[in-house]
Amino acid sequence: MSGIAERVRAVLPAVRADLENLVRIESVWADPARRAEVHRSAATVAELLSAAGFAQVQIVAEGGAPAVIAHHPAPPGAPTVLLYAHHDVQPEGDRAAWASAPFEPTERDGRLYGRGAADDKAGIAVHLAAFRAHHGEPPVGVTVFVEGEEESGSPSLGRILAAHRDALAADVIVLADSDNWSVEVPALTVSLRGLVDCEVEVSTLEHGLHSGLWGGAVPDALAALVRLLASLHDDDGDVAVAGLHRAEPGRAFPDYPAERLRTEAGLLDGVREIGSGPIPQRLWAEPAITVIGIDTTPIAASSNTLIPSARAKISLRVAPGGDAAEHLAALRRHLQDNAPWGARVTVTDGELGQPYAIAATGPVYDAARSAFRRAWGAEPVDMGMGGSIPFLAEFAAAFPDAAILVTGVEDPATRAHSVDESLHLGVLERAAIAEALLLAELGAARR
Ligand code: BES
Ligand code: MN
Ligand code: MN
Repeated sequence: MSGIAERVRAVLPAVRADLENLVRIESVWADPARRAEVHRSAATVAELLSAAGFAQVQIVAEGGAPAVIAHHPAPPGAPTVLLYAHHDVQPEGDRAAWASAPFEPTERDGRLYGRGAADDKAGIAVHLAAFRAHHGEPPVGVTVFVEGEEESGSPSLGRILAAHRDALAADVIVLADSDNWSVEVPALTVSLRGLVDCEVEVSTLEHGLHSGLWGGAVPDALAALVRLLASLHDDDGDVAVAGLHRAEPGRAFPDYPAERLRTEAGLLDGVREIGSGPIPQRLWAEPAITVIGIDTTPIAASSNTLIPSARAKISLRVAPGGDAAEHLAALRRHLQDNAPWGARVTVTDGELGQPYAIAATGPVYDAARSAFRRAWGAEPVDMGMGGSIPFLAEFAAAFPDAAILVTGVEDPATRAHSVDESLHLGVLERAAIAEALLLAELGAARR
Protein backbone atom coordinates (compact mmCIF):
# COMPACT_ATOMS: atom_id res chain seq x y z
CA MET A 1 0.00 0.00 0.00
CA SER A 2 0.94 3.63 -0.12
CA GLY A 3 3.73 5.29 1.81
CA ILE A 4 1.12 7.02 3.90
CA ALA A 5 0.00 3.72 5.39
CA GLU A 6 3.57 2.97 6.37
CA ARG A 7 3.93 6.40 7.95
CA VAL A 8 0.73 5.87 9.96
CA ARG A 9 2.06 2.53 11.20
CA ALA A 10 5.29 4.27 12.18
CA VAL A 11 3.54 6.88 14.33
CA LEU A 12 0.96 4.52 15.80
CA PRO A 13 2.90 3.23 18.83
CA ALA A 14 3.40 6.79 20.09
CA VAL A 15 -0.22 7.65 19.35
CA ARG A 16 -1.33 4.60 21.27
CA ALA A 17 0.73 5.70 24.29
CA ASP A 18 -0.92 9.14 24.08
CA LEU A 19 -4.33 7.48 23.91
CA GLU A 20 -3.54 5.42 27.00
CA ASN A 21 -2.59 8.58 28.90
CA LEU A 22 -5.89 10.15 27.88
CA VAL A 23 -7.82 7.10 29.08
CA ARG A 24 -6.15 7.49 32.50
CA ILE A 25 -7.90 10.86 32.89
CA GLU A 26 -11.40 10.50 34.36
CA SER A 27 -13.01 13.12 32.13
CA VAL A 28 -16.63 12.54 33.17
CA TRP A 29 -18.25 15.94 32.64
CA ALA A 30 -21.60 14.66 33.95
CA ASP A 31 -19.98 14.13 37.38
CA PRO A 32 -19.54 17.55 39.07
CA ALA A 33 -16.79 16.07 41.28
CA ARG A 34 -14.66 15.27 38.23
CA ARG A 35 -14.83 18.52 36.28
CA ALA A 36 -11.17 19.22 37.10
CA GLU A 37 -10.39 15.99 35.26
CA VAL A 38 -12.17 17.32 32.18
CA HIS A 39 -10.02 20.45 32.36
CA ARG A 40 -6.94 18.24 32.70
CA SER A 41 -7.95 16.21 29.64
CA ALA A 42 -8.52 19.39 27.61
CA ALA A 43 -5.05 20.61 28.62
CA THR A 44 -3.53 17.24 27.67
CA VAL A 45 -5.23 17.24 24.27
CA ALA A 46 -4.01 20.81 23.69
CA GLU A 47 -0.43 19.79 24.54
CA LEU A 48 -0.58 16.79 22.21
CA LEU A 49 -1.81 18.95 19.34
CA SER A 50 0.87 21.59 19.96
CA ALA A 51 3.55 18.91 20.05
CA ALA A 52 2.20 17.45 16.79
CA GLY A 53 2.94 20.79 15.12
CA PHE A 54 -0.34 22.71 15.07
CA ALA A 55 0.51 26.38 14.81
CA GLN A 56 -2.45 27.69 16.82
CA VAL A 57 -3.94 25.78 19.74
CA GLN A 58 -6.52 27.20 22.11
CA ILE A 59 -8.76 25.93 24.89
CA VAL A 60 -12.17 27.55 24.73
CA ALA A 61 -15.31 27.38 26.88
CA GLU A 62 -18.62 29.19 26.65
CA GLY A 63 -20.10 28.50 30.06
CA GLY A 64 -19.70 24.73 29.72
CA ALA A 65 -16.92 22.18 29.33
CA PRO A 66 -13.55 23.17 27.85
CA ALA A 67 -13.05 22.35 24.16
CA VAL A 68 -9.80 22.42 22.22
CA ILE A 69 -9.40 24.09 18.83
CA ALA A 70 -6.15 23.61 16.90
CA HIS A 71 -5.45 24.99 13.46
CA HIS A 72 -2.95 24.32 10.74
CA PRO A 73 -3.38 26.77 7.84
CA ALA A 74 -4.28 25.52 4.39
CA PRO A 75 -1.67 25.68 1.61
CA PRO A 76 -2.81 28.22 -1.04
CA GLY A 77 -5.87 26.96 -2.92
CA ALA A 78 -6.34 23.89 -0.71
CA PRO A 79 -9.50 23.16 1.29
CA THR A 80 -9.69 23.12 5.09
CA VAL A 81 -10.79 19.97 6.90
CA LEU A 82 -12.26 20.06 10.40
CA LEU A 83 -11.56 16.92 12.44
CA TYR A 84 -13.98 16.46 15.36
CA ALA A 85 -13.83 14.19 18.42
CA HIS A 86 -14.86 14.49 22.09
CA HIS A 87 -12.62 14.11 25.12
CA ASP A 88 -15.36 13.64 27.73
CA VAL A 89 -16.57 10.14 28.56
CA GLN A 90 -19.58 8.42 30.07
CA PRO A 91 -19.46 7.51 33.77
CA GLU A 92 -17.80 4.13 34.32
CA GLY A 93 -20.79 2.55 36.11
CA ASP A 94 -20.07 -0.31 38.49
CA ARG A 95 -16.26 -0.30 38.82
CA ALA A 96 -16.25 -3.78 40.31
CA ALA A 97 -17.99 -5.17 37.22
CA TRP A 98 -15.06 -4.24 34.93
CA ALA A 99 -12.59 -7.03 34.11
CA SER A 100 -9.78 -4.45 34.46
CA ALA A 101 -9.96 -1.00 36.09
CA PRO A 102 -11.94 1.41 33.86
CA PHE A 103 -9.31 4.16 33.82
CA GLU A 104 -6.30 1.85 33.53
CA PRO A 105 -5.93 1.03 29.81
CA THR A 106 -5.33 -2.70 29.41
CA GLU A 107 -4.76 -4.77 26.28
CA ARG A 108 -6.39 -8.17 25.90
CA ASP A 109 -6.76 -10.12 22.65
CA GLY A 110 -6.00 -7.22 20.35
CA ARG A 111 -8.36 -4.82 22.12
CA LEU A 112 -7.58 -1.90 24.41
CA TYR A 113 -9.98 -1.81 27.36
CA GLY A 114 -10.91 1.32 29.29
CA ARG A 115 -13.61 3.98 29.56
CA GLY A 116 -13.26 6.22 26.52
CA ALA A 117 -10.67 3.95 24.86
CA ALA A 118 -13.09 3.96 21.93
CA ASP A 119 -15.82 6.57 22.64
CA ASP A 120 -14.28 8.91 21.84
CA LYS A 121 -10.64 9.24 22.85
CA ALA A 122 -9.85 6.93 19.94
CA GLY A 123 -11.26 9.66 17.69
CA ILE A 124 -8.61 12.04 19.07
CA ALA A 125 -5.96 9.34 18.46
CA VAL A 126 -7.02 8.94 14.83
CA HIS A 127 -6.76 12.70 14.20
CA LEU A 128 -3.32 12.82 15.84
CA ALA A 129 -2.11 9.84 13.81
CA ALA A 130 -3.37 11.25 10.50
CA PHE A 131 -1.71 14.60 11.13
CA ARG A 132 1.56 13.13 12.38
CA ALA A 133 1.70 10.73 9.42
CA HIS A 134 1.82 13.81 7.19
CA HIS A 135 4.74 15.03 9.31
CA GLY A 136 2.68 18.03 10.32
CA GLU A 137 2.53 19.21 6.67
CA PRO A 138 -0.72 17.85 5.22
CA PRO A 139 -1.74 19.09 1.75
CA VAL A 140 -4.91 20.64 3.25
CA GLY A 141 -5.69 23.01 6.07
CA VAL A 142 -6.58 21.08 9.22
CA THR A 143 -8.60 22.25 12.19
CA VAL A 144 -9.00 19.85 15.08
CA PHE A 145 -11.97 20.45 17.34
CA VAL A 146 -12.22 18.31 20.47
CA GLU A 147 -15.33 18.92 22.51
CA GLY A 148 -15.74 18.20 26.25
CA GLU A 149 -19.46 17.68 26.88
CA GLU A 150 -20.78 15.47 24.07
CA GLU A 151 -21.94 12.82 26.52
CA SER A 152 -24.00 15.49 28.27
CA GLY A 153 -25.77 16.56 25.09
CA SER A 154 -23.36 19.36 24.08
CA PRO A 155 -25.36 22.14 25.81
CA SER A 156 -22.85 24.93 25.11
CA LEU A 157 -21.75 23.78 21.66
CA GLY A 158 -24.05 26.26 19.92
CA ARG A 159 -22.35 29.12 21.79
CA ILE A 160 -18.89 27.74 20.94
CA LEU A 161 -19.85 27.54 17.26
CA ALA A 162 -21.09 31.12 17.35
CA ALA A 163 -18.13 32.54 19.31
CA HIS A 164 -15.46 30.72 17.25
CA ARG A 165 -17.16 30.57 13.89
CA ASP A 166 -14.14 31.74 11.92
CA ALA A 167 -11.76 29.38 13.69
CA LEU A 168 -14.07 26.43 13.00
CA ALA A 169 -15.09 27.22 9.41
CA ALA A 170 -14.15 24.38 7.05
CA ASP A 171 -14.94 22.88 3.64
CA VAL A 172 -15.11 19.34 4.97
CA ILE A 173 -16.08 18.19 8.47
CA VAL A 174 -15.02 14.74 9.67
CA LEU A 175 -16.68 13.53 12.87
CA ALA A 176 -14.84 10.47 14.15
CA ASP A 177 -17.43 9.38 16.71
CA SER A 178 -19.41 6.54 15.19
CA ASP A 179 -19.35 2.84 14.48
CA ASN A 180 -18.10 0.47 11.77
CA TRP A 181 -19.93 -2.39 10.09
CA SER A 182 -17.45 -4.89 11.58
CA VAL A 183 -13.76 -5.01 12.52
CA GLU A 184 -13.01 -5.82 8.86
CA VAL A 185 -15.53 -3.61 7.06
CA PRO A 186 -15.70 0.17 7.55
CA ALA A 187 -18.88 2.23 7.58
CA LEU A 188 -19.77 5.68 6.43
CA THR A 189 -22.53 6.79 8.78
CA VAL A 190 -25.32 8.30 6.70
CA SER A 191 -28.01 8.79 9.32
CA LEU A 192 -28.37 9.05 13.09
CA ARG A 193 -31.43 9.02 15.26
CA GLY A 194 -32.36 12.00 17.40
CA LEU A 195 -32.85 11.72 21.14
CA VAL A 196 -35.32 13.17 23.61
CA ASP A 197 -35.95 12.27 27.22
CA CYS A 198 -38.28 13.13 30.07
CA GLU A 199 -39.03 12.19 33.66
CA VAL A 200 -42.48 11.01 34.60
CA GLU A 201 -43.77 11.04 38.18
CA VAL A 202 -46.84 9.02 39.10
CA SER A 203 -48.66 9.70 42.38
CA THR A 204 -51.70 7.99 43.89
CA LEU A 205 -51.62 8.81 47.61
CA GLU A 206 -50.93 11.67 49.98
CA HIS A 207 -48.69 9.36 52.01
CA GLY A 208 -47.63 5.73 52.26
CA LEU A 209 -50.09 3.20 53.69
CA HIS A 210 -49.98 -0.23 55.32
CA SER A 211 -50.27 -2.62 52.39
CA GLY A 212 -52.30 -5.14 54.39
CA LEU A 213 -54.86 -2.66 55.67
CA TRP A 214 -55.36 -0.82 52.39
CA GLY A 215 -53.97 -3.07 49.60
CA GLY A 216 -56.66 -4.42 47.32
CA ALA A 217 -58.74 -1.27 47.30
CA VAL A 218 -56.16 1.49 47.12
CA PRO A 219 -53.71 1.72 44.17
CA ASP A 220 -50.01 2.19 44.85
CA ALA A 221 -47.97 4.47 42.64
CA LEU A 222 -45.43 1.88 41.60
CA ALA A 223 -48.07 -0.46 40.18
CA ALA A 224 -49.56 2.51 38.33
CA LEU A 225 -46.13 3.55 36.99
CA VAL A 226 -45.35 0.01 35.82
CA ARG A 227 -48.65 -0.17 33.91
CA LEU A 228 -48.02 3.22 32.37
CA LEU A 229 -44.51 2.19 31.28
CA ALA A 230 -45.87 -1.09 29.89
CA SER A 231 -48.23 0.90 27.64
CA LEU A 232 -45.23 2.33 25.74
CA HIS A 233 -44.86 -0.92 23.72
CA ASP A 234 -47.37 -3.34 22.21
CA ASP A 235 -47.18 -7.10 22.70
CA ASP A 236 -44.66 -7.47 19.84
CA GLY A 237 -42.40 -4.85 21.37
CA ASP A 238 -43.22 -2.21 18.76
CA VAL A 239 -43.43 1.32 20.12
CA ALA A 240 -47.09 2.07 20.88
CA VAL A 241 -46.98 5.86 21.21
CA ALA A 242 -49.13 7.67 18.64
CA GLY A 243 -47.70 10.34 16.36
CA LEU A 244 -44.08 9.17 16.06
CA HIS A 245 -42.20 9.33 12.77
CA ARG A 246 -41.06 6.21 10.91
CA ALA A 247 -38.58 6.74 8.09
CA GLU A 248 -39.32 5.13 4.72
CA PRO A 249 -38.01 1.57 4.53
CA GLY A 250 -34.35 1.86 3.72
CA ARG A 251 -32.84 2.83 0.49
CA ALA A 252 -30.69 -0.25 0.11
CA PHE A 253 -30.18 -1.09 3.75
CA PRO A 254 -27.46 -3.74 4.04
CA ASP A 255 -28.54 -7.22 5.02
CA TYR A 256 -28.40 -7.65 8.80
CA PRO A 257 -29.68 -11.06 9.84
CA ALA A 258 -31.44 -11.48 13.18
CA GLU A 259 -28.84 -14.11 14.13
CA ARG A 260 -26.08 -11.52 13.88
CA LEU A 261 -28.05 -9.11 16.05
CA ARG A 262 -28.57 -11.84 18.65
CA THR A 263 -24.86 -12.64 18.84
CA GLU A 264 -23.54 -9.10 18.77
CA ALA A 265 -26.04 -7.80 21.30
CA GLY A 266 -25.60 -10.80 23.59
CA LEU A 267 -29.30 -11.73 23.71
CA LEU A 268 -29.92 -14.61 26.10
CA ASP A 269 -31.17 -17.89 24.67
CA GLY A 270 -34.92 -17.87 24.34
CA VAL A 271 -35.24 -14.07 24.52
CA ARG A 272 -36.87 -12.75 21.32
CA GLU A 273 -35.94 -9.61 19.40
CA ILE A 274 -38.62 -6.92 19.66
CA GLY A 275 -40.33 -4.92 16.93
CA SER A 276 -41.02 -5.97 13.36
CA GLY A 277 -39.54 -5.53 9.88
CA PRO A 278 -35.88 -5.72 8.79
CA ILE A 279 -33.41 -5.22 11.67
CA PRO A 280 -31.67 -2.15 10.12
CA GLN A 281 -35.08 -0.53 9.74
CA ARG A 282 -35.82 -1.12 13.42
CA LEU A 283 -32.43 0.10 14.62
CA TRP A 284 -31.89 3.06 12.33
CA ALA A 285 -35.17 4.23 10.86
CA GLU A 286 -37.78 3.76 13.57
CA PRO A 287 -38.35 5.25 17.00
CA ALA A 288 -37.26 3.33 20.09
CA ILE A 289 -38.26 3.86 23.70
CA THR A 290 -36.18 2.82 26.70
CA VAL A 291 -36.88 3.25 30.40
CA ILE A 292 -33.40 4.26 31.56
CA GLY A 293 -34.02 4.67 35.29
CA ILE A 294 -36.59 4.35 38.04
CA ASP A 295 -36.69 6.09 41.43
CA THR A 296 -38.65 4.15 43.97
CA THR A 297 -38.09 2.40 47.27
CA PRO A 298 -35.01 0.17 46.94
CA ILE A 299 -35.52 -3.45 48.02
CA ALA A 300 -33.20 -3.00 51.01
CA ALA A 301 -35.50 -0.29 52.39
CA SER A 302 -38.76 -1.97 51.40
CA SER A 303 -41.58 -2.74 53.80
CA ASN A 304 -45.21 -3.72 53.42
CA THR A 305 -46.17 -0.26 52.32
CA LEU A 306 -48.21 1.11 49.42
CA ILE A 307 -45.77 3.49 47.74
CA PRO A 308 -47.36 6.94 47.26
CA SER A 309 -45.30 8.17 44.31
CA ALA A 310 -42.62 6.86 41.94
CA ARG A 311 -40.61 8.23 39.05
CA ALA A 312 -39.05 6.97 35.84
CA LYS A 313 -36.79 8.49 33.21
CA ILE A 314 -37.70 7.61 29.64
CA SER A 315 -35.57 8.09 26.55
CA LEU A 316 -36.96 8.15 23.03
CA ARG A 317 -34.85 7.81 19.86
CA VAL A 318 -36.24 9.82 16.94
CA ALA A 319 -36.07 8.36 13.43
CA PRO A 320 -34.35 10.50 10.73
CA GLY A 321 -36.84 12.97 9.31
CA GLY A 322 -38.74 13.30 12.60
CA ASP A 323 -38.76 16.42 14.77
CA ALA A 324 -37.41 16.01 18.29
CA ALA A 325 -39.71 18.61 19.89
CA GLU A 326 -42.82 17.04 18.33
CA HIS A 327 -41.70 13.63 19.57
CA LEU A 328 -41.25 14.86 23.12
CA ALA A 329 -44.73 16.37 22.98
CA ALA A 330 -46.17 13.06 21.68
CA LEU A 331 -44.48 11.12 24.49
CA ARG A 332 -45.74 13.60 27.06
CA ARG A 333 -49.29 13.29 25.69
CA HIS A 334 -49.12 9.50 25.82
CA LEU A 335 -47.97 9.52 29.44
CA GLN A 336 -50.66 11.98 30.48
CA ASP A 337 -53.43 10.12 28.61
CA ASN A 338 -52.59 6.59 29.75
CA ALA A 339 -52.33 6.86 33.51
CA PRO A 340 -54.19 3.90 35.02
CA TRP A 341 -56.79 4.36 37.76
CA GLY A 342 -56.77 8.14 37.44
CA ALA A 343 -53.24 8.32 38.89
CA ARG A 344 -51.69 11.77 38.85
CA VAL A 345 -48.93 12.14 36.25
CA THR A 346 -46.33 14.90 36.06
CA VAL A 347 -43.95 14.97 33.10
CA THR A 348 -40.75 17.00 33.16
CA ASP A 349 -39.13 17.55 29.77
CA GLY A 350 -35.43 16.74 29.41
CA GLU A 351 -32.90 16.74 26.57
CA LEU A 352 -33.76 17.38 22.97
CA GLY A 353 -31.47 16.40 20.05
CA GLN A 354 -32.50 16.31 16.40
CA PRO A 355 -31.88 13.30 14.12
CA TYR A 356 -29.74 13.67 11.06
CA ALA A 357 -29.40 12.21 7.57
CA ILE A 358 -26.70 12.86 4.96
CA ALA A 359 -27.07 12.51 1.20
CA ALA A 360 -23.45 11.22 1.06
CA THR A 361 -22.97 11.89 -2.64
CA GLY A 362 -20.37 14.04 -4.38
CA PRO A 363 -16.60 14.28 -4.62
CA VAL A 364 -15.85 14.42 -0.87
CA TYR A 365 -17.85 11.25 -0.19
CA ASP A 366 -16.22 9.56 -3.20
CA ALA A 367 -12.80 10.50 -1.79
CA ALA A 368 -13.78 9.13 1.60
CA ARG A 369 -15.02 5.84 0.15
CA SER A 370 -11.83 5.49 -1.85
CA ALA A 371 -9.70 6.18 1.26
CA PHE A 372 -11.70 3.60 3.24
CA ARG A 373 -11.37 1.03 0.45
CA ARG A 374 -7.60 1.45 0.30
CA ALA A 375 -7.05 1.51 4.06
CA TRP A 376 -9.34 -1.40 4.97
CA GLY A 377 -9.14 -3.46 1.78
CA ALA A 378 -12.94 -3.66 1.92
CA GLU A 379 -15.87 -1.78 0.41
CA PRO A 380 -17.35 0.63 3.00
CA VAL A 381 -20.99 0.19 3.98
CA ASP A 382 -23.39 3.15 4.03
CA MET A 383 -24.80 2.65 7.48
CA GLY A 384 -27.53 4.24 9.52
CA MET A 385 -26.92 4.48 13.24
CA GLY A 386 -29.33 4.06 16.07
CA GLY A 387 -27.21 6.29 18.30
CA SER A 388 -27.29 10.07 18.34
CA ILE A 389 -24.91 12.94 17.86
CA PRO A 390 -27.33 15.68 18.85
CA PHE A 391 -25.16 18.62 17.80
CA LEU A 392 -24.74 17.31 14.25
CA ALA A 393 -27.81 19.18 13.03
CA GLU A 394 -26.47 22.37 14.70
CA PHE A 395 -23.11 21.90 13.03
CA ALA A 396 -24.70 21.39 9.63
CA ALA A 397 -26.83 24.51 10.09
CA ALA A 398 -23.80 26.58 11.11
CA PHE A 399 -21.76 25.44 8.09
CA PRO A 400 -24.32 24.69 5.37
CA ASP A 401 -21.74 24.50 2.58
CA ALA A 402 -19.46 22.00 4.29
CA ALA A 403 -19.51 18.29 3.40
CA ILE A 404 -20.02 16.30 6.59
CA LEU A 405 -18.45 12.86 6.99
CA VAL A 406 -19.33 10.74 10.00
CA THR A 407 -16.68 8.10 10.56
CA GLY A 408 -15.65 6.22 13.66
CA VAL A 409 -13.40 3.88 15.56
CA GLU A 410 -16.05 1.75 17.21
CA ASP A 411 -17.09 -1.75 16.17
CA PRO A 412 -20.01 -3.97 17.18
CA ALA A 413 -18.06 -5.35 20.16
CA THR A 414 -16.98 -1.96 21.57
CA ARG A 415 -19.61 -1.76 24.33
CA ALA A 416 -19.48 2.03 24.49
CA HIS A 417 -21.15 3.37 27.67
CA SER A 418 -21.11 -0.09 29.24
CA VAL A 419 -18.58 -1.84 31.46
CA ASP A 420 -15.58 -3.26 29.59
CA GLU A 421 -15.66 -0.69 26.78
CA SER A 422 -12.85 -1.43 24.35
CA LEU A 423 -11.17 -0.39 21.13
CA HIS A 424 -10.12 -2.91 18.47
CA LEU A 425 -6.47 -2.01 17.77
CA GLY A 426 -6.70 -3.16 14.13
CA VAL A 427 -9.66 -0.83 13.64
CA LEU A 428 -7.64 2.03 15.15
CA GLU A 429 -4.88 1.43 12.60
CA ARG A 430 -7.24 1.13 9.63
CA ALA A 431 -9.25 4.19 10.67
CA ALA A 432 -6.05 6.23 11.07
CA ILE A 433 -4.73 5.13 7.65
CA ALA A 434 -8.10 5.97 6.07
CA GLU A 435 -8.10 9.47 7.57
CA ALA A 436 -4.49 10.12 6.54
CA LEU A 437 -5.33 8.96 2.98
CA LEU A 438 -8.44 11.15 2.97
CA LEU A 439 -6.38 14.25 3.83
CA ALA A 440 -4.03 13.36 0.96
CA GLU A 441 -6.90 12.83 -1.51
CA LEU A 442 -8.68 16.04 -0.53
CA GLY A 443 -5.39 17.90 -0.96
CA ALA A 444 -4.79 16.34 -4.38
CA ALA A 445 -8.31 17.22 -5.53
CA ARG A 446 -7.83 20.98 -4.89
CA ARG A 447 -11.39 22.13 -5.33
N1 BES B 1 -20.44 8.27 19.87
C1 BES B 1 -21.77 8.26 20.40
C2 BES B 1 -22.85 8.21 19.38
C3 BES B 1 -22.78 7.09 18.39
C4 BES B 1 -22.28 5.85 18.72
C5 BES B 1 -23.23 7.32 17.13
C6 BES B 1 -22.21 4.86 17.77
C7 BES B 1 -23.19 6.33 16.20
C8 BES B 1 -22.67 5.11 16.52
C9 BES B 1 -21.96 9.45 21.30
O1 BES B 1 -20.86 9.65 22.16
C10 BES B 1 -23.14 9.21 22.19
O2 BES B 1 -23.06 8.35 23.02
N2 BES B 1 -24.21 9.97 22.04
C11 BES B 1 -25.29 9.91 22.98
C12 BES B 1 -25.98 11.21 22.98
C13 BES B 1 -26.24 11.80 24.29
C14 BES B 1 -25.51 11.40 25.48
C15 BES B 1 -26.85 13.15 24.30
C16 BES B 1 -26.25 8.79 22.66
O3 BES B 1 -26.40 8.37 21.50
O4 BES B 1 -26.87 8.29 23.61
MN1 MN C 1 -19.07 9.50 21.18
MN1 MN D 1 -21.01 8.15 23.79
